Formats: sequence, C-alpha cells, structure tokens
Amino acid sequence: MPIETNHSARTWTLSGGSTSYVLHQDEQDRLLHLYWGPRLGGNDLTYDPSDYISFASFDLPVSVLPSELPVCGTGWFGTPAVGIRDAGGNEVADLRVVSAEIHPGKPVLPGLPAVYTEKDEEADSLSVHLEDVVSGLQITALFTVFSGSGAVTRSLTLKNAGREPLTVTSLLSASVPMWRSDLDLLHLNGAWARERRMIRTPVNKGEFRIASARGASGHEENPFLALCERNTDEFSGQVWGVSLVYSGRFLASCRTDIFGHARLSIGMNPDVFSWRLEPGESLTSPEAVMVFSEAGFNGMSQTYHRLYRERLARGVWRDRPRPVLLNSWESAYFDFDEKRLLSIAEKAAEIGAELFVLDDGWFGKRNSDNCSLGDWTANTEKLPGGLAGLSGKIHELGLQFGLWFEPEMVSPDSSLYRSHPDWCLHVASRPRTEARQQLILDLSRPEVQEYIISAISAVLASSGIDYVKWDMNRNMTEAFSDVLPPERKKETQHRYMLGLYRILETITSAFPEILFESCSGGGGRFDPGMLYYMPQTWTSDDTDAVERLKIQYGTSILYPSSAMGAHVSAVPNHQTGRTVSLKMRGNVALGGNFGFELDPGKLPQEELEEAKAIVCRVKQLRNLTREGTFWRLLSPFDGPVTAWAFVSEDLRTVLLCAYSVLSVPNSAPVRVRLRGILPDVGYRTEDGLRFSGAALLYQGITLPLRGDFDSFVCLLKAD
Ligand code: DGJ
Repeated sequence: MPIETNHSARTWTLSGGSTSYVLHQDEQDRLLHLYWGPRLGGNDLTYDPSDYISFASFDLPVSVLPSELPVCGTGWFGTPAVGIRDAGGNEVADLRVVSAEIHPGKPVLPGLPAVYTEKDEEADSLSVHLEDVVSGLQITALFTVFSGSGAVTRSLTLKNAGREPLTVTSLLSASVPMWRSDLDLLHLNGAWARERRMIRTPVNKGEFRIASARGASGHEENPFLALCERNTDEFSGQVWGVSLVYSGRFLASCRTDIFGHARLSIGMNPDVFSWRLEPGESLTSPEAVMVFSEAGFNGMSQTYHRLYRERLARGVWRDRPRPVLLNSWESAYFDFDEKRLLSIAEKAAEIGAELFVLDDGWFGKRNSDNCSLGDWTANTEKLPGGLAGLSGKIHELGLQFGLWFEPEMVSPDSSLYRSHPDWCLHVASRPRTEARQQLILDLSRPEVQEYIISAISAVLASSGIDYVKWDMNRNMTEAFSDVLPPERKKETQHRYMLGLYRILETITSAFPEILFESCSGGGGRFDPGMLYYMPQTWTSDDTDAVERLKIQYGTSILYPSSAMGAHVSAVPNHQTGRTVSLKMRGNVALGGNFGFELDPGKLPQEELEEAKAIVCRVKQLRNLTREGTFWRLLSPFDGPVTAWAFVSEDLRTVLLCAYSVLSVPNSAPVRVRLRGILPDVGYRTEDGLRFSGAALLYQGITLPLRGDFDSFVCLLKAD
C-alpha cells in the first residue's frame, strides 16, 4: 500500500519508489512531519514529543515542533505555511486535524497546473482536513505519492467556513522540517541570457531565501530548491528537492531553528500578497513537487524529468517527436517582408527543417519593439497575402508554419491601448512604468482574458498555424489591478496567474494539434506551471554554444530535454560575439528540441551540406534525446570539459555527448565513465569500435577532444 495508516502511532506513511514521507497527528491533533527519506517498512517510526519539547526551556512547543503546517500567531516564528488575518485585524490561527481519508489516484487542482495520473494505480492521495475553530478556517492538505518514483506532491485548499471575512496573508505549498543542518543547498540562479546556473552553498544559521517578486518566475531564480548531504555529488548521496508548479512570484527558503534544524519551504511569495475569503469562499495553493534521491543529483533529476515529461506536460505533443524548426528572429529580426521570409524558408526546407517560425514583427505596424503589441492582425505591407497567404506558401514548401505572439502585453502605441487605456496594470495616480516600450495587460480582469482568447483564437483559426511561440518580455510594475477594491489589491498578481492559466487552458484545448512553446525573454518563465500548458520552452536568448553548456546543464537539474528549445545560430554569436564551429553548435543543440536561428542562405555551401547532415542526425536521434534517461557526467561548472549522455529505456542504446571549452596545455586526455548501462553486454560505436559495458562503466572512455570548442558525439549500441 503506498499510504499506510497506523492508528495507534497516529501516523500516515506515504511510500513510493525508494522514498517514504511520514505524517503524524499528535495527541493535541496537530499535524506534524516525522520523516522524508529512504523508504521505510510499515511502522518503523516512533514519535516522542519530549524529543523536542524538553530541550526547549524558553521556547514554546509550537516553535520547535516539526509542524507540517506552521501557522501564524500561536508560537511559530518563521514564515507561516498558512497566515490569516481575521475581520478584527488579528493574525492568529491554530489548526487541528479533524479527519483524513485516503483515495486512489490524484484529484485535479481546479484552475491550476499540476502533475496528474492517467490511471489510479499510479498514485494514492491523502486528504487531511484541519480546522481553526475560532475563525472557521478549514484546510484540506492534499498529499499524493507516486508509487513508481516516490515523488510526493502537496497543495492546500483553504475555505472560510466562518461568518466573517478572512484574509490569507501567507500560503506555502511545502514546508518540511529536516532535523539536521549538516547539509548544502542547491539552487538555480541567473539573469537574462545567463539562466539557471547551479549554485551550491552550505546551510548556515538563519534564513536563506530565493524569491521572485517580478510577476513571473523569472530569470533570476527558478522556483526550486534542494537540500543535499555534504558529500552528495551527481551520482551518490541524499538529495531532497522541492519544485513549485507555478509561474508567478514565489519564495523558496531554508531556515534553521534554535536547534539548528533546517526547514525547507516553497510557495507563493507572501510579500505583496493577500487574498480575502468571504464566508464560503475557497483558495487553493499551487502544488509543490517533492523528490528525494539517494542517487545524487542525477537521481533526483531523472525522477523530475520523467514526471514532468510524462505527467505534467499534456496533449498530443507530449509524446510526439518535435519538429526541427527554423525561427526567423536571429535571421531577420524585424527586417523582413514575405519575399525574404520565403527565401529563408526555402533554404530551411532544403536543409531538412520541418517547421518555419515567424517571430516578432508580423503584426500591426511593428518594425521595431516600440509599438503594436495587442494588435494581432498581420501587417499587409510586409505580408501582402496576410498570414493565411504566407502560411499557404510555407506549407507548399513542405514546411509547417509557426507564429510568435506576446499576448499578455500592450504597446502604448497600439489600437488596443487607444481603445482600452485602462486594461493594463497601472495605478491611476501614477505614471505607467514602461519596459521595452510596453505595458502588461491586467489578466486578472475577465474582459481582458476574453479579449486575448478571442484575438489569438481568431488568428489561429484562420491562418493555418501549426506552432505558437508564446512570449512575455517584461517584469511587472504597478501590479495592482485598477478594478479591485483596496482590500483585494494584493490579490492582483495571483489573479493574473489564474487568468493566464485560464487563457492557456482555453486556447490549448481549442487547438489541440498546435504545438505551443513558451518563452519569456528566453528562459524567464521556464517553470513547471508553463510546462503543464506547453510541452516546451525557449531555454534562453543566449544561443552561444559555449554558454548553452551551462544553461542546458543547469536547466537539466529539474527539466527534461523534451522541454528545452535549443537552436543553432549564426557566428559571431549575437549575444557573446564568439565564433565556434557549426559542428559544436549542432552538437550542443541536439540535446534539446533542435532548431535554427539563422538565415541558411548565408551559409557557405559546405556548411549548408553540414547543416543538412546535422538535421539528418537530429531526426535519427530525437526520440532517444526526448525520452532517454539523461545523465550529467562532467560539469561545465567544474572544468573545461562537459559531458552528458542519453540512455534508452532498455539500456541498450547510449548517446554520449562531450564538449571542450578552452583547451588546457600539458593535460591528460579526459576520460568519462558512462552510467546507467548494462555491464554484461558489449556496446559498439558507429565506427565499429567495441567496448564492454563494464569497461564503459568502470574504466570509462577517453574523449577525443582537441583544441578549443571541440565536441564529440558518439552513439553506442549493445550488440
Ligand atoms: C524574446 C524572445 O526570447 C526572442 O526569442 C524573441 O522572440 C524576441 N522576444 C522577440 O521580441
């Protein structure tokens, strides 16, 4: 049984894969957290409150108890998982368990993205019902454990069952006490064009916080935090990861208590957040996905990869090979007309691309980034036959046709803004802060949601669109909806996200055959929330192959390669000015959803032939790179050589990819050991070299890398 109830010990043990997560209802009916780690037998755990309380002379029991749901005002002094303010302005809660039930499968979270089951056997769920008798606040804490992987999800639904309004001031999706502090933290830090760098730092006294206050999950931090043992590496050691299925402002923290015990939390950012619950109203938190691994970071990542690839991403494209695309952005920017696009597309078809994507600049009077967002009708000066005309011609070339939108935005210089100047996020008495000459539509407003749904749907229905790139290019300012009353102003950003999710659900369900890719200045909203609606994300605006090693390696900590857009662009690279070979650029990009971001007509003939060969190779390998188990082998953060590999489900096919950056004189050749393959069989390269699985696993393979920016991609098959 994945969830066992022990009535005498008053515990629930959630077990799956090699993990258990144990909850306890204490004698006072508080919900405590006893354990999260390697799988336990049935009733292995005991709980003695004096383990905690007798040590605490000055502190209240609640300050030190391992609460699963710490609340405000009754002795918990950290950020509460649930904070409420009553009608009198008091911020006090005292939650006690009322009942609990276990059910097969996993319920849907209404209006929110979440991981899901296809069959009830895949997971079991536990709903624990709690109540604060004085205020009438009722909470259902929903836990689900996936039987195969042991991943545990948690979300909270709050209901005001009292007679007075309540205001939610804090709502964390997970808050897990760890009983120890001899641990390190791992997070993914970055900036535009430098996304998701792995940062590892020791747990210290006090509180460590990463957050987004930008209105989107952001480039700066990803909604993810992991704790690991000090000796954990990619292959061994314990890791506890928490990831938030949400695309807005978030907070993840690790706080140590008076005993030095760490608590790992993640949820919506409580700064500038509150939510008023009238009697009878409810609010559900986003979902946290918690993954434990004893097999190091690779072990944790592989669990997230499978779950997010197979049970977060949805729709027909979830399991389909993704088309090789050519995107017009870096090939033409705003400087195009139909003739130029068709000449790029013709060459794209010649090198084997399957999808031509028209990026920014096709609508309104947009010839630079200073106008027309919101006016989603084709610029007929550039495209005389409109989008349908262009799409028809692209299809005649044997290519699918994709289109860029930035639906959440409005340019002050646009017909939409002139008709509805009040539709953007703004504060009436203040100037409206522009970024990239644009403002953000107030997606918390139903009429704005309706406008976006109808404007985008009209284009999709009439123009033969096979793919959409959904972009979002600025952070939020003045993020207080004009139409909300003062006591609800701090709901704006969460209402925005709920509005966005409603729009995405409506449009993606109405156009199930269209492949959607999300984007936010590259990877500024690369999060599990967006992956629920769109199975792939543009990883970064930095297309430099060397920079991409770090970006793709860091992104792979949490996200599968099926989620990552990876394109070959022109040299010198537009972001770094660096020139590396087409071979290196191709070999880096084939680790994700492969595409081009250049004008193939500008390639010399021999590179055009090389590009064709790269595309053939991508088509041969793309099922393996999309579905195979991804192993990080050598880190770009640790040295000049990076290596990773994709291993097929049956372990008989391996794609080893290795890259050098700057060569080091007088250094030994680098050898890399493969992982996760069969020791007892022989593997043969395409050149006929044969290695035993054991030799590849234990001795390793010497990488034939020479000079700067070299790469080596090798397909091995069991014979
Ligand atoms: C930002 C995206 O990341 C780019 O790929 C491109 O689509 C531009 N926006 C267009 O404005």
